[in-house]
Amino acid sequence: MPITSLVSNPDQYPEYIWRNGENIPWQSAMVHVNAVGHASVSSVFEGIKAYYNSEQDQLYVFRLEEHMKRFIESARIVRLGLSYDSQELVAATLMLLKANQERQDVYIRPWCFVEGIVREQIAPSGTKTEMVIDSWSFNTQMLTQRGCSCCVSSWRRIDDTSMPPRAKVFSNYHNSRFATIEAKQGGYDWPIFLNDRGKVTEGPGACIAMVREGKLITPNITSGVLESITRATLMQLAQDVLQLPIEEREIDRTELYVCDELFFMGTGWEILPITTIDGLVVGDGKMGSVATKLDQAYHDIVRGNNPQYLHWLTPVYK
Ligand SMILES: Cc1ncc(COP(=O)(O)O)c(C=O)c1O
Repeated sequence: MPITSLVSNPDQYPEYIWRNGENIPWQSAMVHVNAVGHASVSSVFEGIKAYYNSEQDQLYVFRLEEHMKRFIESARIVRLGLSYDSQELVAATLMLLKANQERQDVYIRPWCFVEGIVREQIAPSGTKTEMVIDSWSFNTQMLTQRGCSCCVSSWRRIDDTSMPPRAKVFSNYHNSRFATIEAKQGGYDWPIFLNDRGKVTEGPGACIAMVREGKLITPNITSGVLESITRATLMQLAQDVLQLPIEEREIDRTELYVCDELFFMGTGWEILPITTIDGLVVGDGKMGSVATKLDQAYHDIVRGNNPQYLHWLTPVYK
């Protein structure tokens, strides 16, 4: 069975979207068609998740400040002019979620794009931007039990000397798209990229980690990956909760073939077990014990059920 979308209601949209300082009706958030090209090329974004706790009637945004910090860093790397600081973007996100009265798990996407119609071939450094925050209902733990099949892609990961993967730029996902199409044509769910040195990097929309000889091992942040917040979270939980040693280092393709567990880590996919790699079964073909424990710890935390990690959560309703 192919992987289904994580968006719970693809045809439903919230009442409001936040644009340039205010909540406006979702239907009226338009741009001129001439603006689309440049708006898309350098546009940077974030992917954040908020989890609803029905017992507490509270919506918790996970690591909101860290996501906004990365957003500002992405805009700096691609030299776009931002009119908002991190605190203003945090406040804007909360204002939007409150206005939409969100009481479900949602994905939140802050993004900015060059303002107006650019006639130059290349939008100059520091070009002013428009800022938007939108959100939509998003499933949780939907793919966890199923896991996924992966192949190593023939497409190389973009790298810091051409299209830096450290910046969360929409156009980087063109690389993800090529590899995902190839993987699906081959009958796999998702690809895993190697970098120009032939070392393992990440998936099209998530980082990866493997368990080998009792250690949690993940490619280091200079291997050609997004500096993932879920990766940082799970590395900390592996130490705090499982007392597991961590290694950030280069990973060879064939290490994936002999590891005990392999999984994706990302805001959208959360902890997604990889059950086969290039047709070889990983471990016993099911979600492994490390991934299972990390998944339990993660979901307790994001929903506000672990007082030790409340500092990672921003409650929407006071
Ligand atoms: C290419 C890529 N790598 C890694 C990640 C994981 O990052 P994070 O854990 O901050 O969501 C994402 C997004 O989720 C991504 O798009």
